[in-house]
Amino acid sequence: MKITLRIPKQTDYDTIASWITDEKPFSRWAGPSLPFLFVAENLPELLAVEGCSNYCLSDIDNNCVGFGQFWPGKQGAVHIGRIIISPEARGKGAGRLLCEKLVEKARQSTGGSTVTLRVYRDNHAARSLYSSLGFFVIESESIDDLLFMSTTANRSRKSGA
Ligand SMILES: CC(C)(COP(=O)(O)OP(=O)(O)OC[C@H]1O[C@@H](n2cnc3c(N)ncnc32)[C@H](O)[C@@H]1OP(=O)(O)O)[C@@H](O)C(=O)NCCC(=O)NCCS
Repeated sequence: MKITLRIPKQTDYDTIASWITDEKPFSRWAGPSLPFLFVAENLPELLAVEGCSNYCLSDIDNNCVGFGQFWPGKQGAVHIGRIIISPEARGKGAGRLLCEKLVEKARQSTGGSTVTLRVYRDNHAARSLYSSLGFFVIESESIDDLLFMSTTANRSRKSGA
């Protein structure tokens, strides 16, 4: 799949909004503080985090098939979040590509070598993806249902070395 990162347009946010039709998956993706009953045109505002950069993953036909953000994290780290792939595109490697490209963009844009994220403990697909990209759990920063994960630039993908 020929795929690139680009800045999302409003029509992309409309597309992203259409991927999540149930409250629980929405709050697990966007965070518990965001209202589930939202208007798609308000999604960019709802997802805004101070200092954030938003990207969508675009396929060869320029369709948005994924989305993710990054913003300044703790102690010079850059934090990535709101990672999502369209339901139709899942299981074909798009999530891995999105995360690889987003991590690269986050490091380039901020100069931070450490990248962090949060993921629900029972989100096995996402946890498996992040672990395979070299992210490891920091239990001291994790809470009951939510794991804090981190990786640094010198951790290699897949090998976890
Ligand atoms: C998590 C998510 C982004 C993965 O995207 P994807 O395109 O399906 O992932 P890929 O096809 O690139 O797979 C990459 C890895 O993810 C893991 N993975 C993906 N789907 C999986 C599943 N159903 N079960 C277990 N692991 C899975 C595997 O480790 C896989 O590596 P492998 O192919 O070498 O086995 C996608 O499932 C999604 O959008 N989920 C809903 C939103 C969400 O939960 N976001 C995370 C918020 S923290």
